[in-house]
Formats: sequence, C-alpha cells, structure tokens
Amino acid sequence: MSRTDVFVHPSAVVHDEAAIGAGTRIWDWSKVREKSRIGAGCNIGQSCYIDIGAVIGDRCKIQNGVSVYHGVTIGDDVFVGPNAVFTNDLVPRAFNTEWKITETRVGNGASIGANATIRCGITLGDYAMVAAGAVVTKDVPTHGLVMGNPAKLVDYVSRSGKRLDWDMSQSPPSADALAG
Ligand SMILES: CC(C)(COP(=O)(O)OP(=O)(O)OC[C@H]1O[C@@H](n2cnc3c(N)ncnc32)[C@H](O)[C@@H]1OP(=O)(O)O)[C@@H](O)C(=O)NCCC(=O)NCCS
Repeated sequence: MSRTDVFVHPSAVVHDEAAIGAGTRIWDWSKVREKSRIGAGCNIGQSCYIDIGAVIGDRCKIQNGVSVYHGVTIGDDVFVGPNAVFTNDLVPRAFNTEWKITETRVGNGASIGANATIRCGITLGDYAMVAAGAVVTKDVPTHGLVMGNPAKLVDYVSRSGKRLDWDMSQSPPSADALAG
C-alpha cells in the first residue's frame, strides 16, 4: 500500500497490507499486521503490536508495549498509556479450536492509563478516562472516569481531562459542564 510521510523505524515490521495515514510514526520493535488500519498523525511507541484487522483512528498516541488486538476499534485522539492491555477472547482456552472474537470499542478522545486492562466486550465512551492500573469490566459512559479493580465510575472529566468532582448521585453532567 502506498504511504505518504509515514515514519517506520528500521527495527519495526509493517505489513504491506496495513493502511497507515500520513504523518504517523511507528517506533522500535513494533509490529503492524495485515488488514489493520492506523489513521493519520498517530504515534505508535516502542514494542507495540497492532493485530490483523485492528483499527486505530487519527492522532492517537499508543504508548510503549501496547498490543491492539483483532476486534479492537479505537477512535480519533485516543491516548493508550504504556503497557495497557486489550483482550479479545472472553473465555480463553489454549485448546479451543473455534475462537470467538469479542469486540472492544474506544470512543474519540478517550484516555487509558498505564497498565490498565480493558476486558473485551467493553465500550469506552468518548472522552472517557481510565485510571492507571484499572481493570475495566463494564462500559464506561462518555466523559466517565473509572478506577480500581473492578473499575468503578467515580467522577466525570471534561474534554481536557479536568475532574468535575461531580455528585455521582445526580444525573450525569450537561454538555456545557463537560466542555472545558
Ligand atoms: C485517575 C487519575 C486521573 C486521578 O487523578 P487525581 O484526581 O489527581 O487523583 P488523586 O491523586 O487526587 O487521587 C484521588 C483518589 O483517587 C485514588 N487514585 C488515584 N489514582 C488512582 C488509580 N490509578 N487507581 C486507583 N486509585 C487511584 C487516590 O489514591 C485517591 O484516593 P483517596 O481519595 O482515597 O485518597 C490519575 O491518578 C491516573 O491514574 N492517571 C493516569 C496516569 C497514567 O497512566 N498516565 C499514562 C501516561 S504516562
């Protein structure tokens, strides 16, 4: 596939059938598999694995040591912290011959902290924030902040990531409150 202005570190392995947008950089020892899609202006850090069919939007930052597996779809402007983990097999067995992929979706502008684990079948809403080390087992609403294991919704964050210190017994904040 033709690529414009894409930097691939000499130690990275990028399949010819991966689609990669302009201005994206792929760093040391990373591997990008066939039929995956990475948007424009992304940074794929060191030792990342972008699996067959994985989808990453524009302007994403995928930090060192992250594997984005088949069945994971990441929106635009998403931050994935170092060594965060996605999964795609809900009930893994090494000896299962029929492998069922369970999908995961990450909304635009969402951030995932270092070492967080996102169980498959989850949707992270737009601008959601996952704390470092959280284990996410349920969907996270738009602008929701979750932390812990299992991750709990503890607050909402604005577009820029500022905590609202929201009274969680009330309805979720309005679009105006979340804009800043
Ligand atoms: C979740 C996060 C945004 C909260 O930030 P914050 O509001 O400034 O957090 P505070 O330090 O004020 O802590 C508030 C409370 O949350 C707890 N807390 C903070 N981060 C936590 C985490 N990752 N997991 C569990 N609890 C956490 C604190 O212990 C504290 O608890 P307490 O009220 O019982 O004392 C931040 O801690 C975080 O995890 N950011 C992600 C960092 C990261 O991975 N970056 C990747 C790029 S390097």
